[in-house]
Amino acid sequence: MEHIIETQSLTKVYGDGAQVRALDDVSIQIAKGEFVAVMGPSGSGKSTLLNMLGALDLPSSGKVLINGQDLQTVKNLDAFRAQTVGFVFQLHNLIPTLNALENVEVPMMGQPVGRGERRKRAEELLSMVGLGDRMHHLPNQLSGGQRQRVAIARSLANKPSLVLADEPTGNLDSQSGSEVINLLRELNRDLKTTFVVVTHDLAVARQTDRVLVMHDGKIADDHRVGNPFEEDLKTFLGSGLGQAIFSGDPNALEVLRPQQRVALQNLLANRSS
Ligand SMILES: Nc1ncnc2c1ncn2[C@@H]1O[C@H](COP(=O)(O)OP(=O)(O)OP(=O)(O)O)[C@@H](O)[C@H]1O
Ligand SMILES: [Mg+2]
Repeated sequence: MEHIIETQSLTKVYGDGAQVRALDDVSIQIAKGEFVAVMGPSGSGKSTLLNMLGALDLPSSGKVLINGQDLQTVKNLDAFRAQTVGFVFQLHNLIPTLNALENVEVPMMGQPVGRGERRKRAEELLSMVGLGDRMHHLPNQLSGGQRQRVAIARSLANKPSLVLADEPTGNLDSQSGSEVINLLRELNRDLKTTFVVVTHDLAVARQTDRVLVMHDGKIADDHRVGNPFEEDLKTFLGSGLGQAIFSGDPNALEVLRPQQRVALQNLLANRSS
């Protein structure tokens, strides 16, 4: 499996006197296209981890490899960040005097993208996040959820393979928050972008493939979120009826409608092969 992110004994110590081990010997691997949530109490090191993954800050020791490349060996970190990583922060950091379109164009400015292409791409991205009719609005003319969607569009401007989001729904009501997460999920499916999202929201974490739980600078739990369908199937197969069907009792199948019966039989056949 190809890993877009790998950390090896990643450690970050802040301060010289009273030292804080914000990250303590963290070794993780994240596959291309994974959608990962990072959870954990305040101060457990979530933002520090994200900052290291995005090369916004240097580790005290250990390594970060992005697409197999050790960040220590990257000559031009600014260029690397611009081309590979998109960032979404809790406070969206939009430029207040620029409209939505111009905000999305900003990351493309230093890149070899012509003016026309830049505009076109910004328009496409804003349409994709559902803001086709708000392109000329300034940030203060948009709702919190809309601003966050502009920030997401901006994070995708340079077609990054990796997007790091630090509490992207932290300032939103639950409705706007779930819209933002659904959007990230869609982008993850459609563009195969890898997402690492820090969140305090269990509803958000449930939508992801995997939850890393941090505690005192360490990964305390690495939990794969079960495919809900698989979970349902497991529960069903554990039930009396499920057991009867599974053990081949022909009478058990009679309680199902013909279509359901065929679907289930196909499913079981595929699983055992
Ligand atoms: N620049 C800094 N200087 C000194 N200590 C820092 C610095 N940044 C973070 N820390 C400390 O490192 C630890 C981890 O901080 P971090 O910001 O990663 O936590 P977090 O999990 O993101 O918390 P929150 O959920 O509150 O955002 C904390 O104890 C924090 O006080
Ligand atoms: Mg934080």
